[in-house]
Amino acid sequence: MIKYLDLKTINKPYEHAADEVLRSGWYLKGDWTRRFEEAYADYIGTKHCIGCGNGLDALTLIFRAYMELGVMQEGDEVIVPANTYIASILAITENRLKPVLVEPSLDTLQIDDALIEQAITERTRAIMIVHLYGRCAYTDRIGDICRRHHLKLIEDNAQAHGCVCDAVLPHRFVATESRQTRTGFLGHAAAHSFYPTKNLGAFGDAGAVTTDDDELADLVRALGNYGSARHYVFDYQGRNSRMDEIQAAILLAKLRDLDANNQRRKEIAALYINKVKHPDILLPQCDRDSVYHIFPLLCSRRDELQRYLADNGVGTEIHYPIPPHRQRCYAKGAQNWLSELSEWPSLSLPITERIHAEELSIPCNPALSDDETVCIVALINRF
Ligand SMILES: Cc1ncc(COP(=O)(O)O)c(C=O)c1O
Repeated sequence: MIKYLDLKTINKPYEHAADEVLRSGWYLKGDWTRRFEEAYADYIGTKHCIGCGNGLDALTLIFRAYMELGVMQEGDEVIVPANTYIASILAITENRLKPVLVEPSLDTLQIDDALIEQAITERTRAIMIVHLYGRCAYTDRIGDICRRHHLKLIEDNAQAHGCVCDAVLPHRFVATESRQTRTGFLGHAAAHSFYPTKNLGAFGDAGAVTTDDDELADLVRALGNYGSARHYVFDYQGRNSRMDEIQAAILLAKLRDLDANNQRRKEIAALYINKVKHPDILLPQCDRDSVYHIFPLLCSRRDELQRYLADNGVGTEIHYPIPPHRQRCYAKGAQNWLSELSEWPSLSLPITERIHAEELSIPCNPALSDDETVCIVALINRF
């Protein structure tokens, strides 16, 4: 059996990090978290990294902080790719902001930058890009749109830790200058999830916000600590969302191996891209930047392909079976603060719907051997 993802094998070398924390007797707000935050900020290239409980909280806290700062107000709009994971959208609606769904491009499976400008209204305050499947969603065009419309650029970097890309960042340095940079550095703020399956995955839930903005960083930290920046003084109605010491120690150890592990993912992806040849299967376009958190195929007979691979001992996943606009949480009758969200089920988003109907994720991770990869290729080609 080839597992979709064998976390037991991947995590074995890092168990000692958890043991060290267990023996230390100190579990929260300690040295491990501080050291991880410093190391991760350094890795991403930002001034600040604030550890928090998970990726959804990281996203939610960014919006909440912008609302506290008066940058956004209830009912303001945030542009977001329609084919994202639900958490990107929950973070927007939880803050009573309005998600405006934009279709992805079928070539990249990322937000289609040619469709963004027509979705902008006078209430648009931000564009959230989601580096889905490990591929960088940023384009120079998106950076330029943000600058011209004075919009915040927020990155959902849950799936692309370590992705390096060439970018022109008009809000950071000279508008025409292209630099090598990591996802998580591209926007005004970025949210990272360290959910166990991620490229940089904890042994439970964990997340982080990265930013260069001092004010935003202080606010995010306070909001995730009950709204308190000083012991037992509460300036905001915050929440409890902190990274714990065990996760921080594990993440610090795993961060050292992240680039090597991403390189292995790229090798496996290259093999799939070069060797899988099937008339019913659309492969992702080769992308040298992608860190292949997920290797997504599109197949019109997706469910049949999944069953066939399972019957032949290969585990797969679907990311994701139902698009956000068709989820019951936003359907008519559900508790929507914004009546327009009730219209979502009748929205027609053909590219998003096709991706959700046809996507199949095949194993692509550092625990996969060459033989297993070759075996998966042969099976798919015989489908
Ligand atoms: C694109 C995306 N955004 C946000 C999240 C939320 O992260 P978490 O599960 O850590 O809350 C995930 C996690 O699965 C994700 O894939």
